[in-house]
Amino acid sequence: MAEAAQDLMSTIVSLCKRRGFIFQSSEIYGGLNSCWDYGPLGVELKRNVKEAWWRSMVTNRRDIVGIDASILMHPKVWEASGHLSGFTDPLVDCKKCKSRFRADHLDNLEKCPSCGGELTDVRKFNLMFKTFMGPIEDESATVYLRPETAQGIFVNFLNVQQASRLKPPFGIAQIGKSFRNEITPGNFTYRTREFEQMEMEFFVPPKDDGYWYEYWKKTRMSWYIEYGIRPENLRLRDHSPDELAHYAKACADVEYRFPFGWSELEGIANRTDFDLRRHSEASGKSLAYFDNDSNTHYFPFVIEPAAGADRATLAFLIDSYAVEGEGKEARTVLRIHPALAPIKAAVLPLVKKDGMPEKAENIYRDLLDHSIRSFYDHNSSIGRRYARQDEAGTPFCITVDTQTLQDDTVTVRERDTREQFRVASGRIVEVISKKLNGKPL
Ligand code: GAP
Repeated sequence: MAEAAQDLMSTIVSLCKRRGFIFQSSEIYGGLNSCWDYGPLGVELKRNVKEAWWRSMVTNRRDIVGIDASILMHPKVWEASGHLSGFTDPLVDCKKCKSRFRADHLDNLEKCPSCGGELTDVRKFNLMFKTFMGPIEDESATVYLRPETAQGIFVNFLNVQQASRLKPPFGIAQIGKSFRNEITPGNFTYRTREFEQMEMEFFVPPKDDGYWYEYWKKTRMSWYIEYGIRPENLRLRDHSPDELAHYAKACADVEYRFPFGWSELEGIANRTDFDLRRHSEASGKSLAYFDNDSNTHYFPFVIEPAAGADRATLAFLIDSYAVEGEGKEARTVLRIHPALAPIKAAVLPLVKKDGMPEKAENIYRDLLDHSIRSFYDHNSSIGRRYARQDEAGTPFCITVDTQTLQDDTVTVRERDTREQFRVASGRIVEVISKKLNGKPL
């Protein structure tokens, strides 16, 4: 990574810790490699990212429903899906310094890139985490932590279809944790061993797969742009045939220009009828769909937009980060889309006297009562308080000042422009709600 990019990543990591977005897991014990904890601001941001995804994929559509499947599934699921035999990375170890590398990430398989030592032969390493179900730790009790949420959708395909009375084309969406014993995790929350996926399997008549593949590529690109990723930092990259997963007829990655280079945010794949057929064969229970119109059974094809909640959250954070102005005017600001911002409004009494804190407290209470995530702050100068909120990405600051005591109006300051306007304090909930929804006042 170039030095400037490295500096930007370090700045983001330290801002995340200082402001309570993301902490290293088990930090007081020296941390656990590749595991991260979301703090008070981070948990709100990530929830908002997941909610924005769910709204656009489920809530606002008539053709997609959601499920929440369990993380532990029958081990035969992973046999049928191909994960037990095929979900592997090629691995080499250094015989001298014991470092471990992905063979496909090395140019030279003769020498260790860290110490020059001799490397072992390439071995296949299965990425699934194993554990045991029940008190006896033997082979028959082995279960796996799911490496993707998709399989919970496939095995439930007919349950959901029949319960919801949906006809292809229709989709099933799920958000949840997945686990992969990655050989080389890194780049902060970009590649971790425990992460959250936002996946949707869209079941279509086989003849329509091309149309829906194009549709989902376009729709998913627009979603990132709608929520603030700059178009010049986003691209769609088609997989070459030798890159395709064993189940895919076609695949494209939505990539973001991270400081460490263009990297995948989401994969959009045409999985054909691979999974439904494999589970039908392996379980002996057909997952074919019965089409009333033609009076026939068929296996729908599947178009799958599969995104990572942690990667999307990191991209929204990095893309919104800016340092502006110079000298006294300099500020750090997170220009996060208001729908994703962890805190929507900060309420600030100008001074801690003359009834201003009481007035501010009432406004704060009112915002909370209307489920607008807000923050109350009366410590330090007003300039410092604005700066703290800019850095946290808060789109609006509401200041109770001397004029409030005369005419009951307050100042609303907008994060991005720093412009201010006054409104009657009784209208604050309405004004902030309209602003958050992009409606005129
Ligand atoms: N069901 C298909 C599937 O799982 P994938 O491309 O392996 O496809 C989908 O994963 C998304 O999940 C990725 O685009 C990425 O955003 C996220 N993801 C995958 N592995 C990850 C990891 N180790 N750490 C963080 N996110 C990960």
